[in-house]
Amino acid sequence: MGLLLQTPRARGRRLVRRITADASSPLADRVVLVTGASSGIGEATARAVARRGARVLLVARRADELDRVRMVIEGAGGVASSYPCDLTDGDAVDRLVTQVLAEHGAVDHLVNNAGRSIRRSLRLSEDRFHDFERTMAVNYFGPVRLTMGLLPAMRSQRFGHVVNVLTWGVQVKAPKFAAYIASKTALDTWSRIAGRETFADNVTFTNMRLGLVRTPMVSPTEAYARLPALSPERAAELVVRALEDRPVTVGTIPGAVAELFNLVAPRLSDLAFSLADRRFPDSAAARGQR
Ligand SMILES: NC(=O)c1ccc[n+]([C@@H]2O[C@H](COP(=O)([O-])OP(=O)(O)OC[C@H]3O[C@@H](n4cnc5c(N)ncnc54)[C@H](OP(=O)(O)O)[C@@H]3O)[C@@H](O)[C@H]2O)c1
Repeated sequence: MGLLLQTPRARGRRLVRRITADASSPLADRVVLVTGASSGIGEATARAVARRGARVLLVARRADELDRVRMVIEGAGGVASSYPCDLTDGDAVDRLVTQVLAEHGAVDHLVNNAGRSIRRSLRLSEDRFHDFERTMAVNYFGPVRLTMGLLPAMRSQRFGHVVNVLTWGVQVKAPKFAAYIASKTALDTWSRIAGRETFADNVTFTNMRLGLVRTPMVSPTEAYARLPALSPERAAELVVRALEDRPVTVGTIPGAVAELFNLVAPRLSDLAFSLADRRFPDSAAARGQR
């Protein structure tokens, strides 16, 4: 929109955005869709990409929280729009894709960040098959459906990048996380294969195997209270770097060591994790006590 057609307030915002945005970032003026933007890593990522001059599309279920994040971004001179959507509802995801493509033509960068973690032993999961269904719904089927909807426009504009916010658990294979880690591993593998099919169209994928981040997701797990963790803002900076540099994977040294340990000494690694499994029992939340 030309500057003369804008209200004084919008002109002011645009000016602030020009001054504060990092014009050298490849994200400037790009359309970046972030799922799970109402909280934690997703919120911090949305704010960080807006600071680099991207137009941010905020997706999560809670419309009021998305509007809060949108107003924070706009107050700082950025550009954001809210798209409330439950990613476990396939029809809602299809409607989201239709609306976003109608309004923006294509999404340049997609951050599949929305997710749900469950830490519960198999013994406590015997009558809880829904734990496995729910984690697959939000951590795998939701992002796959959304990505599939947005891929054709990325491929036809011959540019696109997808960042999946996964966990070092895909390398560690930590006890009590079977439902969560298996769903994240499914997205990790799907994206490696998708990236090979879309590589010739300049559409790429990054799998981020993050360690612990201090967000509402991990607060019910007492075992994490004293462990070192990244802030959501620090995690968001890693996501931004992945959006800008487009690496195949982003990981941690402990994740890589655990992967190697699993590979070279699988039974010894089983023994070590079995001892750790007994040392860190199910949390009160996993046992159904708050
Ligand atoms: N925290 C960690 O230690 C850690 C480590 C590695 C990876 N991760 C991954 O990082 C991602 C973000 O988690 P976080 O730690 O930032 O947790 P968080 O603060 O709890 O954020 C989770 C986000 O996902 C959204 N969400 C959940 N279910 C959804 C659904 N059905 N449809 C749409 N949005 C949904 C939530 O929004 P609504 O409730 O508004 O829908 C929220 O914005 C997750 O994928 C998580 O697995 C976290």
